[in-house]
Parts: sequence; C-alpha cells; structure tokens
Amino acid sequence: MRHVCSCWRVCSRGLYSCYWRESSSSTRKMSCCWLSFVTVVSLLSLCWLYICLISFNDQEDLNGQLFKWLNCWFNWFMVIIIFSAVLTSYCLLLLLFALIQIVFGEKLDLHWLHKIFLFLGVIIIIGGISGIVGMWKRELPTISLSLQATAPFLQFGAVAALTLISSFVFQAFHKIKKNSRFLVLVVFAAVAAGIFLSPLFIHSPCFIELKDLPEKPKLFAHRGAPMLAPENTMMAFERSAACGVTAFETDVQLSKDRIPFLMHDNESEFLRRTTNVRNMLPQRAIKSNMDLTFEEIQNLNAGEWFLKTDPFRSVSQLSEEEKQTARNQTIPSLLQLLELAKHHNISVIFDLYRTGKSGNDRDDTAAIIDTIRKSNINPGLILWLPPGEREWVKKTSPGFVHIYSNESAMRKNNGTHVNVRYTHLSMNRIRELRADSITVNLWVVNERWLFSLLWCAGASSVTTNSCHLLKDVEQPDWFMSYQTYTKIWILVDVASMLIMAALFVFQWKTHCSCLREGRNRDEMSSHFSVGDAATFPFLSS
Ligand SMILES: *[C@@H]1O[C@H](CO)[C@@H](O)[C@H](O)[C@H]1NC(C)=O
Ligand SMILES: *[C@@H]1O[C@H](CO)[C@@H](O)[C@H](O)[C@H]1NC(C)=O
Ligand SMILES: *[C@@H]1O[C@H](CO)[C@@H](O)[C@H](O)[C@H]1NC(C)=O
Repeated sequence: MRHVCSCWRVCSRGLYSCYWRESSSSTRKMSCCWLSFVTVVSLLSLCWLYICLISFNDQEDLNGQLFKWLNCWFNWFMVIIIFSAVLTSYCLLLLLFALIQIVFGEKLDLHWLHKIFLFLGVIIIIGGISGIVGMWKRELPTISLSLQATAPFLQFGAVAALTLISSFVFQAFHKIKKNSRFLVLVVFAAVAAGIFLSPLFIHSPCFIELKDLPEKPKLFAHRGAPMLAPENTMMAFERSAACGVTAFETDVQLSKDRIPFLMHDNESEFLRRTTNVRNMLPQRAIKSNMDLTFEEIQNLNAGEWFLKTDPFRSVSQLSEEEKQTARNQTIPSLLQLLELAKHHNISVIFDLYRTGKSGNDRDDTAAIIDTIRKSNINPGLILWLPPGEREWVKKTSPGFVHIYSNESAMRKNNGTHVNVRYTHLSMNRIRELRADSITVNLWVVNERWLFSLLWCAGASSVTTNSCHLLKDVEQPDWFMSYQTYTKIWILVDVASMLIMAALFVFQWKTHCSCLREGRNRDEMSSHFSVGDAATFPFLSS
C-alpha cells in the first residue's frame, strides 16, 4: 500500500513539476495562481467539449460549409471532437495531479511546458468559441436548448464536485490566517448557494408525467438514410423505408432537358461532393443543373464518394453486399422516388432548387407537377413545400398537403403544417401549436437527446439522418414530474450539505487536536486519522 502511495506521489509530482527525485526545496511564489489557472482552463475545456458534443447533431452543417470553402471533403468535425477530448483529459489530469500533491502536502510547481500547452489550449478554445459566435451563429440556440436536456444532470455533477472540493477548501480554511477566513467562507458559500439553488431556474419539457407524454414523433428520412447509404440515392430511400419512416425528404433540381432529379448541392459545389463528375467530365465547366442533360447526369456515379469519404463513419457497419450496392448508385429522378413512395405509401417532401437562368418558377413547378401526375401517386402523399408558385399549385393540384417553412407564412395561408429548423420554435411554442392542432415537423434531428426533448415537447415529426437509431427509441431518455424532480434535487442538496458539514466539523476537530499535540506528522497519523487520511483512507495504511 505504502509503495502504491509513493508511486502516486512521485508520478503526480513528476508529471506536474518534472521533479522526479524529490520535491522542490524552495517554496515557489505564484504556485497558487498556477493552480487556479489549471482549474480555470479545465473548466473552460470541459465547457468546450460539451459544446462540441452538443453540436455533433449538426456536424454535417459544419463539414458541408468547410467543403464549400476548401473544395475538398474531410470530416473536420471528428478532428475537432478528438482534439477537444484530448485537451480536456490533459487539463483534468493536471488538475488531478495537483490535488494529489496537495493531499501529500507537497509544494506545487507547474512545469513550464505545461504552462505553454495550457496557454495554447486557451487560445484554441477562445478561437473555437469566437468561430462559433462569428460564423456559426445558428448553432448557439442549440447549445442553450441542450441545457433543457442536460441541466438536471449537470447540477448533480456540480454538487458532487463541490462536495469533493469542499474537503480541500476546509483544509485550507483551517490553515490560513483568521482574517482571510471570512473571505474564503463567503466565496465558498456563494458558489455553493448558486449550485444548490440553480434547479429553481431549470425548466424542461421533460418535466412531464407519463400520462401526459405525447405520442412519439414520426420520422422523415432526410435524403434517405444517409448514414446507411449514399444520400439522395434509391438505396438510401429503400433503407429508410425499411426504418418505417412516414416521409422521404429530398431536394429536387431540373436537368437541361427539364427532367426533375434528386441532388442537394446546387451552388458552386454542384455534383462535386457526391459524384465523380470531376473524373467523368473533366473538361466541362459545370456550374448548375441546367448544364447537363438527365442522361449525362445518370452516367455519373453517386455512391463511390460515400465509401471513400465515409461522411458519418458508418461504412464499416455495411455488409460487403451493401457496399457493392452503394458503389453502384446513380442519381435518381424524382419519378423513381415517387414510384417508391407510392409503393410503400410514404409521403414525399422536397426543396426545389433553381439556379439555372432559363425558365421561370412556373415552368419548373409545372415540370414537377407533371412528373407527380405521371407517377400516379396519391396526391395526399405530397407535402408541398416550395413557396414560389403555391397559389397556382393549389389551383391546379388540389389534393396536395401544404406545408410552410415558417409560422407567419402558414398563418397567412390558413395552413396547418409547419416545417422549421428545430431551434426556430421554443419548446413551449411547439406545445401551443400542437394544442392548436397544427402539425410541426422539425429538421434535422439526429441525436437521441434532441429527439427526446422534442418528443417531450410534442413535435409531430422530425427530419432525421438516423432513422435506424431513432426508430428503436422507445421512450425519451428521461422524463419525470416536476414534483419528483424537486424532491430529488432537494435530497441531493441536503445530502451534500450534511457531508460537507461533517467534513468541516471533523477537520476542525482534528486540526485543533493537531495544534494541541504539535505539528509532528508521525504523531498525527498515529493518534487520529488526520484530515488528509480521512478523506483518502488509503494513506493511513
Ligand atoms: C449496377 O447497376 C446497373 C444499372 O443500375 C446494373 O445493370 C448492374 O447490374 C449493377 N451492378 C451491380 C454489381 O450491382
Ligand atoms: C397510407 O397511409 C395513410 C397514413 O399515412 C393511411 O391513412 C392510409 O390508409 C394508407 N393507405 C394504404 C393504401 O395503405
Ligand atoms: C416565411 O416564408 C416565406 C415563404 O417561404 C418567406 O417569403 C418569408 O420571408 C418568411 N418569413 C420569415 C419571417 O422568415
């Protein structure tokens, strides 16, 4: 046991200060400041890691944006996550080593290399946060929304951390001069009160009883099942039909010969991300959908990129046969999708992109409506989203369901369906709309925590990349009545306060008895387990 202890002691000192043989002889000034710095950077890196993990739901957003800028696909998001996890672990380990040294009563002296790494870490995190604030603003509401799912657990974690740290604070408290004790006590009490009472400010749609829990939201397949097959290909839609989705979500453009086909990218990166256009037509300058006939478009391969870039790191889950099918995918026409939808009785919702110069909205819309008629699909399965020629569509094709991309457009047209990004409506607003019999579809929801939250709020459906995961979710990650939560947090707070009070009294007593018996360390440990040893029982063996 003693051997294990000394090993811990040497390791933590060596890794923290680079004094492997014995501890620093002279007391370093500022060691306390550096400890505070390590603590602050640890907290900062934890926050940053939290932000990254929450933003994981929208990784596609970031990677797509970077593809537009750099013109080359790479899963940058994964790199950021891995880097942040490493940085956070590094900071937390440093903090742990520092605490171990305090327990052993050693002097702290942070090595200069750690100081440099920590400064670099701070700079990178600040850069990352300003990057989000400056260029990815639409992610900010996601982060505040996530607190409605995580805040109760963060509070429990904070209470646990506070209880643990209190033992160190009390130790310090008994050692410092009488007049600074008051300050320490006030600061500690203020922090503790903030943590203990924060549940008063926590609200979440998941404070709900089982009997009031809304129906599970239906799933709309975002470009098919893009984690299981290349997006917007027939394979992707077939895979999503197997998940039991109620709608296919896709993107429609018209070719030069006015045949509607399925393709998301429509600006400078048209066809480049998801097809082999650069190899097939190297000398053609292709800027938009109107530059190629449907035959030329169909000759492109729309599946190899998926196996090559593995955009969701999911290719390894595919069987050899599935990989073969994926490799052989081409760009489908809208007609092919409508036939699949008709066969499975699944709705279709799509964005309509027009970047070509020729033609006007009416012509494009007419070409689409023609295709829909030709497919002979039940018009009730078409969720009409493009706003351009809505009035004309209503007149010529009366059976469509009209769905609006914001609430004001819906109100103006007396509609009853909205389709918005999940951050555009508050949880309360979703409840109000649902109480008003309005169907609310929210895009793009991939992660369980977000799905759970929107389920509690009562969303009618969500557009998702991960139908294969969400279809198996049987209930929200957590939900409980507000009364139950109140009981739990009060219980947790009281338990923590009792433990802290016990620690305080205990350390105070041992401190007094130590004073009485002199400061001889050996004597202390033989007489009564001292503060250190009490909190870390393995020391006394
Ligand atoms: C690939 O697709 C084409 C046409 O879609 C088909 O004729 C061919 O048999 C397929 N090849 C494989 C290996 O599936
Ligand atoms: C198709 O699905 C709708 C619900 O989405 C249902 O009401 C209808 O009966 C289904 N039709 C067929 C032919 O299965
Ligand atoms: C709502 O949607 C309509 C049509 O899509 C658009 O013209 C309008 O600007 C949108 N309003 C807001 C507030 O975004």
